[in-house]
Amino acid sequence: MEKLALFGGKKAIDTTPEYKWPIITPSDKDYLLKMIEENEISYNFKSEEIDRLEMNFKKYLKMPYCLALNSGTSALYTAFIAIGISEGDEVIVPSYTFPATVIPLIHMGAKIIFADSENNTPLISIEDVKKKVSKETKLILVTHMDGFPVQVNLIRAWLKEHEYNALILEDCAQAIGAEVDGVKVGSLGDLAIFSFQQKKLLTGGEGGLLIIKNKEYYERAILLSYLQKRSFEEISDGRLQQYCYTGLGFNFRIHPLAAGMVNQQFSKMDNYADKRRQNMRMFEESFNSIPEVKLIGRIHENTLPSYFSFKFLYVDEAVDITKYVEALNAEGVPIVVSTTKPLHLEPIFSNFNSNKFSMDFLNKKLTSQFADPLIYCETYSKKVLRLPAYYDLTKEQVIEFANAFRKVGKNKNSLK
Ligand SMILES: Cc1ncc(COP(=O)(O)O)c(C=O)c1O
Repeated sequence: MEKLALFGGKKAIDTTPEYKWPIITPSDKDYLLKMIEENEISYNFKSEEIDRLEMNFKKYLKMPYCLALNSGTSALYTAFIAIGISEGDEVIVPSYTFPATVIPLIHMGAKIIFADSENNTPLISIEDVKKKVSKETKLILVTHMDGFPVQVNLIRAWLKEHEYNALILEDCAQAIGAEVDGVKVGSLGDLAIFSFQQKKLLTGGEGGLLIIKNKEYYERAILLSYLQKRSFEEISDGRLQQYCYTGLGFNFRIHPLAAGMVNQQFSKMDNYADKRRQNMRMFEESFNSIPEVKLIGRIHENTLPSYFSFKFLYVDEAVDITKYVEALNAEGVPIVVSTTKPLHLEPIFSNFNSNKFSMDFLNKKLTSQFADPLIYCETYSKKVLRLPAYYDLTKEQVIEFANAFRKVGKNKNSLK
C-alpha cells in the first residue's frame, strides 16, 4: 500500500490546481480605467453605471424594483428597515446561514426564531418553518445556502393555504443563477438580496443588491440607503418625501467602479454557473466509489444549483474529520472543514433576549444557551467539507482529486 504523504509518502497530486477568482480580462481593466477617466466615481455625480446594473437585474429577475448597495449585509439591513421590522416582531430564520443574514435583526430588537435544517443539507427545513410560523410571524428568511435553492414556492403556497401574512426574504448571496422549477432565485419571495463580494459568482470586489416587489418598501429602502439626490428624484410617497433631505441615518450606496465590474461580468455570469455545473458533473463521475464522503450534487430534483463551492459530507465514523482533512491536504487536496457554524449556538444569541442591541450587551456574561437544540444543522456543520469553486478544472485534475481521496481512504487505519 502506498504510504500517505502525511507520513512521508509521495503526494498524490504534484500540482494542486490554483483557485483564482474573479477572472478579470484586459477589456474589464480598460472599461474600469475609462470610468475613472470620465470621473464616474460617485452616484450623485454620474449614475449611469449603477442604473445599468439595476436595469440588468430587473430584466434578469423580472422584478420591478432593485437597489444596488455597498454590501449584501447592508442590503439585508435595508430590507429589514424597509418592511418595518421593529422591537418584538417575530422573524423565522435559518440557523445554518452566514451571520449577516440574521445579525442585523438584533439592531431592530426582533424576536428571532431559529429553524433547523433539513437532514444532511445546508437548507432551512420547510417542515420546521411550518411548525414555527404563527399569526405573529412577520418575516421568513431563507438562505439558498452554498448555491442550493430552497423551495420557496412550497413555503409560499403553505402560507397562503393557512392564511398567514408573513413575507419571505431570500438571501441569494451564495446562489446567483440558481433556479427552482426554472425560476431564478431572487424572484421567488417578496424581497431578495445578493452580494457582490469577491468570493461570489458575480463580483465587484464588494457590493450588494436589494430586490423588492412592493413600491412602498422600495421607497423606504431608498430613503435609508440613498438619501438626498435619489430620494428627491424617486420618492413619490408624500409621507416619505419630508425625509428626502435628511435620510434615515445611513448611506449604503455602491461604488460605481464596483458596479462597473459587476456589469462587465454580468453577461458572463450564466457561463460561470454552467462551468461550475460541468465541474460538478465531473466530480459526480469520479467520486462514485469513495465510501468516506458523499458529494452534495443536487438536493431537490426540481432545482438547479449554482454551486458556491464543492461540498462533501464526511460519512466515515472511524476516523476523526480533522485527521482525514489533514491527510488529504498533505496529498495536495485543498479541502477544508466548512467554517459555517449554526448561529443559535453563538454567544451573541446566548445573551440575546429580544432587547435592542447596545454596547452594554457585549459586556454581559454568557447567560444561557439558546433553548432548543437544532440537531440537523448542528450535525451537518460538523461533517461538511469544502473544495473551492474552481472555474476551470480538467477531467484529469478531478480524477487526481478522486485518486487522492481513494488513497487516504485505503490508508485510513493509519489515521486512527
Ligand atoms: C449567505 C450570505 N448572506 C449575506 C452575506 C453578506 O454579504 P456581504 O459580504 O456582501 O455583506 C454573505 C456573504 O458572504 C453570505 O454568504
